[in-house]
Amino acid sequence: MKWNADLYDQKHAFVFQYGEDVLELLDVKPGEYILDLGCGTGHLTQQIKDKGARVKGTDLSPDMIAQAKEKYPEVDFAVENAADFFTDEQYDAVFSNAALHWVKDQNGMMRSVYNSLKHGGRFVAEMGGKNNVSRLIEATQLVLQNHGYHVQADAQIWYFPSIGEYATKLEEHGFKVSYAIHYDRKTPLQDGNQGVAKWVTMFGAQYLEGIAEAEQQQILTEITNKLEPYYNEGGQWYADYKRLRFVAIKE
Ligand code: BEZ
Repeated sequence: MKWNADLYDQKHAFVFQYGEDVLELLDVKPGEYILDLGCGTGHLTQQIKDKGARVKGTDLSPDMIAQAKEKYPEVDFAVENAADFFTDEQYDAVFSNAALHWVKDQNGMMRSVYNSLKHGGRFVAEMGGKNNVSRLIEATQLVLQNHGYHVQADAQIWYFPSIGEYATKLEEHGFKVSYAIHYDRKTPLQDGNQGVAKWVTMFGAQYLEGIAEAEQQQILTEITNKLEPYYNEGGQWYADYKRLRFVAIKE
């Protein structure tokens, strides 16, 4: 998927603002060597550095990494695939915020993370959990089906696991899960009644692939109308985010 890094920064600042909470869980110690996996435009990577760590930020999107390098020239950033990466020097911790649900090859990712950590190193992350944005996905699929776009409606864009499923996978890859929580975090959308359309255009572009622009607009309006009773609270729109947050230790 091709990201619009500018739009991501302007309109989806909540992604890294919420990530600041996850940083607390990471509990950076000065001098540690840390990987920020799926770092996007690098805001949290810079914050990890500000806490005194040596940090590397990686992302699959060249646009995101270009933006990150421009914003934070002091930080080490690279385009890398989270599902298949190597490091010469092992990390004290691997951190990830709002990125792991995009990774198709979860086994490859867990293997890469495990191999990249020192013994006793920690994998600290937050991602979408089971039923994340389920109302939005349901509304989108329904509208696409009504318009005859069955292939788009069936697109599997994200992976939102339950806590049991994910903890089991982490254990199978050699991690000890020392902390895990699956919680609801209703998340504000920007731009009022345009917020749903912007969210789907930004993150769910696959749903709209091959559909003419005018019909896309009609579809986005219908999705918005379906979600209004659940998402619009007195003019402020919220999406039904569910987060999965964990700490896993390489034993
Ligand atoms: C999330 O952070 O939960 C998320 C963000 C974009 C697309 C899907 C999920």
